[in-house]
Amino acid sequence: MAYQLADGTALGDPSSELRLNPEWTGLPPADLDRPLALESRAGCDTHPVDVTTKAGQLHLSSYVWADMVPRMERLRAAIRLAETDPVQVERADGSEWLERRLAELPEGVLTVVWHSVMWQYASPAQRERGRAALAGAAARATESAPLALLVYEPRRANGNFELLLKLWPAGLSLRLGHGWGHGLPFTWEEQPWG
Ligand SMILES: C[S@@+](CC[C@H](N)C(=O)[O-])C[C@H]1O[C@@H](n2cnc3c(N)ncnc32)[C@H](O)[C@@H]1O
Repeated sequence: MAYQLADGTALGDPSSELRLNPEWTGLPPADLDRPLALESRAGCDTHPVDVTTKAGQLHLSSYVWADMVPRMERLRAAIRLAETDPVQVERADGSEWLERRLAELPEGVLTVVWHSVMWQYASPAQRERGRAALAGAAARATESAPLALLVYEPRRANGNFELLLKLWPAGLSLRLGHGWGHGLPFTWEEQPWG
């Protein structure tokens, strides 16, 4: 995936057919050109959609208004990319899934828990269970088996969607920036969180 910035700079993989114009104000506090080695990926959803099937692709496309051409093109490019290297998305509640997946933190890699625009749909009991699973894993995180929480969720206080990052055992807790529900436009603005 590549990020095409307004000033003409491209970050990430310039050969990728998924090219995002992220409409950023500011820049992320990270070197996006630095290659990342992804060891493994896994996900869950209470209602997963298999984007490698025609039915799954139609299902996701039905959420995009037909006249939103750039959004539809982005979705199609993302689907083509997902088809080349699909991720197994398990049918499960996130908190129950996290308990299982975080039971052991692998050595030598950073484990990243990511969720976006789902926390509001979880019940209070599921949220409590999810927080406990994360707190348990955070207490076990070490320098050789670190843990990160990266979330993009709406905040009731200001109506913004915020990108939040916590890192253990480093003890970092940052609000990296804010944007709109579908990710664009986005403003990078680092502040302490929590
Ligand atoms: C608005 S969509 C967001 C999808 C995607 N994360 C994104 O940001 O585009 C919310 C998703 O959360 C899922 N969801 C709701 N409650 C959940 C739970 N307790 N555990 C896991 N997924 C859940 C729904 O099935 C739905 O796919």
